[in-house]
Amino acid sequence: MKYSIEVENLTKQFGTQKAVESLTFQVPVGTIFGLLGPNGSGKSTTIRMLCGVIRPSAGTGKVLGLDIVQQAEEAKEHIGYMSQRFSLYEDLTVMENLRFFAGVYGLSRQVADQRIRELLTITNVIGWENNLTHTLSGGLKQRLALACALLHRPKLLVLDEPTAGVDPVSRRIFWSIIQALAANGMSILVTTHYLDEAETCDLVGFIFKGRLISFGPPREIARAVGVDTLEEAFLTFVQEETGERIDLDLTALTAFAKR
Ligand SMILES: Nc1ncnc2c1ncn2[C@@H]1O[C@H](COP(=O)(O)OP(=O)(O)OP(=O)(O)O)[C@@H](O)[C@H]1O
Ligand SMILES: [Mg+2]
Repeated sequence: MKYSIEVENLTKQFGTQKAVESLTFQVPVGTIFGLLGPNGSGKSTTIRMLCGVIRPSAGTGKVLGLDIVQQAEEAKEHIGYMSQRFSLYEDLTVMENLRFFAGVYGLSRQVADQRIRELLTITNVIGWENNLTHTLSGGLKQRLALACALLHRPKLLVLDEPTAGVDPVSRRIFWSIIQALAANGMSILVTTHYLDEAETCDLVGFIFKGRLISFGPPREIARAVGVDTLEEAFLTFVQEETGERIDLDLTALTAFAKR
C-alpha cells in the first residue's frame, strides 16, 4: 500500500452549501500530513468523511487502501480519531476512560491492561490514573485523548486540532509524541492553526472555502509563493482569495486613542 489517504473530487454539501469541494490529493504512507485552512474552510468535514463518520456527497476516497464508503467499518479498525471537541467522559477517571475505550475497541482485559500501561507511559499521563478527567489540565486531557485513540494500535492517526488552547510546553510534548509515532511507521493526519506546528509536517494541504488551493512540503509551498514561512504563505493565500488586506489601516485607531 502506497498511500494512507487518497481522495478524488471528494465533496460534501450541506443543503446548498458546499463545505468541501472536489478535493483531490494523495498522501504517502508513514508521513505527517497537515490540513490547514481558516475557520469553516472544511477541515473537520474532510476528516469526518475520511473517518467514515459522514458520507461524501460526491467523489471518492480511500484510507489505507480501503474505500471510505464501501469499506468504512474495516477502515475504522485501523484509524485512531481524535475529534475536534474533547470526547472523553469528564466525570470518569483517567483509568475508567481508558478501560471504556478499550472495551469499545473489543480488547480483552489482558491486552487492554498491557496497552494501557504502555500508553500511560508513552503519552506521559502516568500518575494521573485515578484522577477525574475534568480535573486534568488541557495538555494532559489531550494526551489522554491521544492515548485512547491509540489503544487499538491504528495505522492512521487522525487528529483534529489536537493542540488548540494547549500551552507551548504541552504542545511541544504532544508533537514529540506524534513525530515519534510517525518515525515508527504510523501515518498521521493533523489539523492545526499553529503554523509553527505545520512547518514540521512532511506535507501540508491548504484548503479555503472547501477547495484545495495548495499542497506540498511546507518549504516548497513557501518558496512557490516567494515568502520565507508557511505563515506568510497562508496570509498571502487568504489575501489573494478574498482580496482583503490583513494589515489594518491604523490611522483612525491612532487618532481615536490620542483623543
Ligand atoms: N453538519 C453540518 N451541517 C451544516 N453545515 C455544516 C455542518 N458541518 C459543517 N458545516 C459547515 O461546513 C463548513 C465547513 O465546516 P468545518 O467544520 O469542516 O470547518 P473547519 O475547517 O473544520 O473549521 P474550524 O477551523 O473552525 O474547525 C462551515 O461553513 C460549517 O458551518
Ligand atoms: Mg474543524
